[in-house]
Amino acid sequence: MPYDVQIATAGKAVSVENGDTILDAAIMAGIAYPHSCRAGRCGACKSRLVEGEVELLPHTRFSLTEEERDAGLVLACRALPRSNCTISWLKNDEALATHPLQQLHCVVDELDDLTHDIKRVRLRVEGDLPLAFTAGQYAQVTFPGCPPREYSMANRPDESVLEFHIRHVSGGATSAHVARELAVGDPVRVEGPFGDSYLREAHSGPILIVAGGSGLAPVKSILETALAAGMRQPIHFYFGVRDERDVYLASYFQELAVNHDNLQFDVVLSAPSGTTERSTGLVTEVLAAQWDRVSGCRAYLAGPPPMVEAASELLLAHGIPADSIHADAFYTSADREPTTTAEPASPDNAKSACSCCHTASS
Ligand SMILES: Cc1cc2nc3c(=O)[nH]c(=O)nc-3n(C[C@H](O)[C@H](O)[C@H](O)COP(=O)(O)OP(=O)(O)OC[C@H]3O[C@@H](n4cnc5c(N)ncnc54)[C@H](O)[C@@H]3O)c2cc1C
Ligand code: FES
Repeated sequence: MPYDVQIATAGKAVSVENGDTILDAAIMAGIAYPHSCRAGRCGACKSRLVEGEVELLPHTRFSLTEEERDAGLVLACRALPRSNCTISWLKNDEALATHPLQQLHCVVDELDDLTHDIKRVRLRVEGDLPLAFTAGQYAQVTFPGCPPREYSMANRPDESVLEFHIRHVSGGATSAHVARELAVGDPVRVEGPFGDSYLREAHSGPILIVAGGSGLAPVKSILETALAAGMRQPIHFYFGVRDERDVYLASYFQELAVNHDNLQFDVVLSAPSGTTERSTGLVTEVLAAQWDRVSGCRAYLAGPPPMVEAASELLLAHGIPADSIHADAFYTSADREPTTTAEPASPDNAKSACSCCHTASS
């Protein structure tokens, strides 16, 4: 039977059908509930259960610790109501990026290959309303005949053309369409913005940026916005990919580093096929070896879930507080299938390797 859930922070109530999570129902009702992965892995939907009972589906320790659960916190994307409830999402210590949810009609303006499997898609917004967002956020993008998918904006918020970097996922419905069929002039629907892994401009300490594969998209927006805003603290940027053919925009970022002496940019190859002058190994190994450079930082992580989860665990283990880690893991529809274990993803329970950056995966 459906339960009524009062979402105190939005001042609205939703009816949640059996089997739906509170986040599902809120999004369907058009409420801009903070979220990112929708899979119990990132913590963006962390909320206080003010009243009532919920069943929590499995989630990672990074997204919600046992202590937080004991203190009455839940994840809206994992919470199945078991009674009428009242819930409120947690407000960040810094101003939340609260932009109105917009639905925009766009047209493909430009398409080009960034690597053998990543396309850059530039969209022109029809009408005169640009998308208002904060650097690092993402949108739900619907290409003709495809299911909607999340893609992160790679452009700065003050630019009018929207830029996305879309990696072809084997067997993927939308990314295969983008790789093979999308054409200049095609109509595209964009809804957003979403996500809380956005640039905190008030932060004045060092910044660590770690991107894997097309995870470069949101961090490009973050980095360009930070530099344009005159942020002068040390920024350490690691771009992890498998091999040289997966590297893109490296000369652009190298040039930025030449022109901004607070920026240090490193490409890390996890599986180089030939000799290379670049750093090699897992990004997390390189980070661990250079720890003195990045301790005390605020971190922005984006890309394949195994890399993002391993980097998050490493940072937590080195004492970086969870609220200084802003992580956007690019979960796919398969990752959202209910998991059967609440074990945290960590290098210790690794079973396979990430197809993008060769990082161990849980
Ligand atoms: C916050 C966020 C931001 C993102 N930003 C970007 C970005 O900037 N760039 C980018 O390239 N990607 C990004 N992604 C990932 C993107 O949203 C898509 O998930 C990705 O493009 C794959 O979509 P698809 O339709 O091609 O694949 P899907 O059709 O979703 O399939 C993905 C994979 O899962 C398999 N699969 C599908 N369904 C099942 C199932 N039921 N059981 C088992 N396996 C299944 C498929 O065979 C395939 O291998 C982001 C994701 C998130 C959550
Ligand atoms: S959106 Fe709920 S944990 Fe990521």
